Amino acid sequence: MIDFEILERDGIARIGRFTTPHGTISTPALLPVVHPDPARQPIHPTEIAGEFGLPAVITSSYIAWRTPKLRSRALSEGIHGLLGFSGPVMTDSGAFQQHAYGSVEVAPEEILDFQSRIGSDIATVLDIFVEPTSGRAEAERGVATTETRAREARARRDGLLAVPVQGGLFGELRERSATSASEVGDVLAVGGVVPLLEQYRFGELAQLLIAARPGLAPEHPVHLFGTGHPLSFAFAALLGVDLFDSSSYHKFARRGALLFPEGTVPCEEVREPICSCRLCAVHPLPKVAEMPAAERELHIARHNLLACSVEIARVRQAIREGTLWELAERRAAAHPALLAGLKQVVRGARVLVPAEPVARRSFRAASPLSSMRPGVIRFLARLRNFQSGRGPYRIRARVPLTPGSLRHIPAHGPDGSPILWECPTPIGPVPLELTELYPVGCWVGVEEFEPPSGSGPAPEAPAPEEEAVAAGDTDWTAAWTERQVAGLLEWQYGPDATALATRVTGERSRRTARLRGASGPDGRWFVFGPGAIPRPTWRGAVELHRTLGYPRARIVVDGDAVPFVLQGKSLFSRFVRGGDSSLVPEAPALLVDPDDRLLAVGRLLLAPYEMGRLTRGVAVRVTAHAKDRGERMEEEAEVPGYVGYG
Ligand code: GUN
Ligand code: ZN
Repeated sequence: MIDFEILERDGIARIGRFTTPHGTISTPALLPVVHPDPARQPIHPTEIAGEFGLPAVITSSYIAWRTPKLRSRALSEGIHGLLGFSGPVMTDSGAFQQHAYGSVEVAPEEILDFQSRIGSDIATVLDIFVEPTSGRAEAERGVATTETRAREARARRDGLLAVPVQGGLFGELRERSATSASEVGDVLAVGGVVPLLEQYRFGELAQLLIAARPGLAPEHPVHLFGTGHPLSFAFAALLGVDLFDSSSYHKFARRGALLFPEGTVPCEEVREPICSCRLCAVHPLPKVAEMPAAERELHIARHNLLACSVEIARVRQAIREGTLWELAERRAAAHPALLAGLKQVVRGARVLVPAEPVARRSFRAASPLSSMRPGVIRFLARLRNFQSGRGPYRIRARVPLTPGSLRHIPAHGPDGSPILWECPTPIGPVPLELTELYPVGCWVGVEEFEPPSGSGPAPEAPAPEEEAVAAGDTDWTAAWTERQVAGLLEWQYGPDATALATRVTGERSRRTARLRGASGPDGRWFVFGPGAIPRPTWRGAVELHRTLGYPRARIVVDGDAVPFVLQGKSLFSRFVRGGDSSLVPEAPALLVDPDDRLLAVGRLLLAPYEMGRLTRGVAVRVTAHAKDRGERMEEEAEVPGYVGYG
């Protein structure tokens, strides 16, 4: 069983790691394809690992098996001895050769056992490469045969096993294949896509990855066979791909083609030193074009490998920052085929939404697709159900949320009914009290930077309701603060939570007027962090726990982990028993024991559907618990049955 652990994430893209007998693989990772014959490999795997920061490689066990000289050396020295490399080595099985040459002459169990005997760290089942041109019956046979072979392979091998996911362009076959691969595989390797990548058919690639998604168990890394162009890394990572492999760096070098994340450039066309990588700094590209063929190929292969390595690093950095969508959109600007692919991702957003974080630090619009990111789609969907502040009065106006402005904005009409102020935003009108939420609160788009136009529409005339209520010198700030606290509590915890708003007083920043916190008579109950999410203190958690029915906002902790969570330790995935399945990463959650006694409050790192399934790593980071920050003991005693845990 693979020990895959998720450390950070952006949607379904994740920074993870797992161990192999020859070292840890940190994901997303690119595994360069190396030739099993060292004489035919241009860059030694030790150099690939040391100089290019790509510490794991993939090689073809089939080529090693088929070539007598390589076969006997691999059997006597092991694959690591043959390659002269001590890092993780994944081996492929020969299905690619079946695609390229029509058939392979090895039995599935023979090539599997061969991979085990030569000490492969991750062996691959000999799958049937289902072509995108295959009809339904053929694709179904390919999936069925791959499934049978995978089950047999699992019975023959204890080590890590990559199980291919096939199915051609048939979505339901992809899902079925992914489901059965998840039952026996360690690495789930989506295959049969090389023709799509070669033909820039990113839309169909997105469709099949989205179709497979519900079947791909989250506790396994997902590999995509044949993605070696840096153009496609951000796109594939956005669709949940953890492992990439490719021979592109070498294949393109043989025909003099330079890889960049923005596309491919033929070396002989380069007249200017356009690459700033450390290799091209020493040998400027216009000079490389004049090198003797062999030397030129080697320089280009090295440049290509470095370009791939840097792009994978950028993808990882973007995941850590929560900016992967932005990176994918910027890459898509380089090629319309990729933009077509991203459009399909947007259409399949339903599979991404459960892993969409409750908020990100920033939202920078990068393309016309920005306003269709899953975070926006979810925001708009939830807006339709939002109740707080609805009444007979509705005013559409741009009302600035600045210190001093709120006092002049009436919150109620003359009859006491709330007035809903709807503020224009790049994604449509949003109630004033929700304008600090992600994504509208941190939206950076072109709208902000456009010069004011003299010929634009005149400011909207005040609606009759507005005139009716605008008179008088009431200070509306306090009324607004209560409305906003209620609105944000409803947004995060549902309509039942709005009752708490009458028991707290909101506090705003004097500089920005943004909500900072909300306190009851006995201190802080909520802190409004980035994205205006009300995060409970221990005191607030006690109130929320009383107010919200089980299992709302809760994660249930296994009895064995209760003492640790009580002390403020993080909750590990394997100790999660269940909880509110509507929670998403970064959301606040009440951690309770199996009898619904409150233990702590935390912030989700995993989505609920991942919890309990990943055997390693943290599911919820505890942000407050009964005993921290000098909380008074009587508060603990207020929680029925709590004291028993001491
Ligand atoms: N390499 C490229 N595509 C594939 C595939 O579908 N299966 C296997 N095993 N290897 C591949
Ligand atoms: Zn370069």
